[in-house]
Amino acid sequence: MIPISKPLLDEAEIKNATEVLKSGMLASGEWVNNFENAFADYIGLKHAIATTSGTTALDIALKALNIKSGEDVIVPDFTFISTANAVLFQNARPVFVDIDEKTFAIDPGDVIEKISPKTKAIIGVHLFGHPFDVKAIREICEDYNLFLVEDCAQAHGAEYEGQKVGGFGDAGCFSFYATKNMTTGEGGIVTTNNEEIEEKMRILINHGQSQKYLHTTLGYNYRMTNIQAAIGLAQLGKLDEFNERRITNAECLNQGLKVSLKTPYKEKVVRHVYHQYVVKLEDDFPMSRDEFIRYLSENGIGSAVHYPLPVHRQPMYQQLGYDRDQCPTATRLSEKVLSLPVHPALTDDNLRYICDTVNGVS
Ligand SMILES: Cc1ncc(COP(=O)(O)O)c(C=O)c1O
Repeated sequence: MIPISKPLLDEAEIKNATEVLKSGMLASGEWVNNFENAFADYIGLKHAIATTSGTTALDIALKALNIKSGEDVIVPDFTFISTANAVLFQNARPVFVDIDEKTFAIDPGDVIEKISPKTKAIIGVHLFGHPFDVKAIREICEDYNLFLVEDCAQAHGAEYEGQKVGGFGDAGCFSFYATKNMTTGEGGIVTTNNEEIEEKMRILINHGQSQKYLHTTLGYNYRMTNIQAAIGLAQLGKLDEFNERRITNAECLNQGLKVSLKTPYKEKVVRHVYHQYVVKLEDDFPMSRDEFIRYLSENGIGSAVHYPLPVHRQPMYQQLGYDRDQCPTATRLSEKVLSLPVHPALTDDNLRYICDTVNGVS
């Protein structure tokens, strides 16, 4: 079976993790500091705060920005659910915005429609590895005096106009879950150039401690461990190579797929790092999506649907009373999309086989 995703780990991760195990210093320590510094350098920012997951990264970013009950935060409707849930964690209200048909990213026109006096922030998601329209969203944030949080969970190393994502807003939140472009198993990190936000986040991830056993605010244990950081440092050293392979694999699929499905779109000003290779089934595609998934699986190819429902249609959000009939583009695309393998572990033979098998549907 060709899996839909596969982490690439080798002697570098084993060596680093073994060093941590031998040292006995398993909790958060020097390795985490080194990983944070290396990640901040990679993105080109002053600060990075490592956390337990992408979800907790989003949570502390919103807490540090003091998002609270009675306030609205704009989020795209087409994303993984934690982008929106992080807003609920603050007792604030996520307001869903539709997406751009071509890039799947937040639609700046709909953002303007949904802004109200209660709006405090926008979370833009660099979905599938393709940066959102940073220029337009930043302008909106400046015009309406809103915070900008970038959800970079799927976009390590992606670029907009030559600059890495994670530094365009008040905070950039990354995930290191096992399927991501680089991994620590579970884990996350927040990047920022803002010292005040950095300081707040450092306290929040560590039980609200400003000094040892002096707790000045309600905090959490969201600390990354040295073992995770050791794996992360090895992965970070290979991230550019991983992304280059994703890009080459995507180009190979773009050229090889000949049936009626739309291959991923890429804006000229971005470096798309293909966390997922998401195709849209055209109306004349000869199979239903379910039949296609079954066909691929019977032929040894893993696939996935990112995402089968727009967030507002998730049962949990329906129970909260969200209008079922909003965000028509996200809703329509959720019925058409399918992700094919694009990860860096694919061989040339794998790619040829995927193209031949997919082309065999017609
Ligand atoms: C867009 C997006 N945001 C947030 C997250 C949350 O990250 P984590 O799973 O590390 O909590 C993910 C993870 O899948 C994601 O894809």
